[in-house]
Amino acid sequence: MPAVLLAMQLVTCDRTNPPVVSDIKTPDDVKVVLRRSCYDCHSNETVWRWYHHIAPGSWLVHRDVEEGRRHLNFSEWDGVPPEKRSKKLQGIAKVVASGDMPPWWYVYPMHPGANLSDQETALLKGWAESAAKSM
Ligand code: HEC
Repeated sequence: MPAVLLAMQLVTCDRTNPPVVSDIKTPDDVKVVLRRSCYDCHSNETVWRWYHHIAPGSWLVHRDVEEGRRHLNFSEWDGVPPEKRSKKLQGIAKVVASGDMPPWWYVYPMHPGANLSDQETALLKGWAESAAKSM
């Protein structure tokens, strides 16, 4: 490995997960899909994999997880003010329906299993829309 790549490996990020404070409550079938396709970036239960530890990719992944958690964190759902929950849920319905989430650059190179089938997209959208109404 060239020296610069080796040197980059010394700059590490903190990859520990903060505690799960209040996991969002959803029906089991919805939770299975959220865990598989969203939790790596939108929860405190990120599964860090070996290729997340190799710079410079590790820096990018780390930033996405920080960024993803900042926008939406299913592990700290109770911390979302009640008046904002409905908006977040509508946002979820929107991004899954448009295919923006999970991001293609996460799915195709590394996590094909995170891809949502049409059925799963409909399941998440339906859940998020009806949960948004009941807030
Ligand atoms: C690879 C990491 C990653 C995965 C996997 C992922 N997201 Fe995201 N998500 C992000 C990032 C980063 C942002 C913020 C930047 C942006 O909007 O692109 C974001 C933004 C969002 C937003 C907008 C939040 C706001 O406050 O505006 C929603 C809603 C969302 N994601 C839902 C989901 C859902 C639902 C899934 C699973 C189906 C998912 N995401 C999977 C990284 C991810």
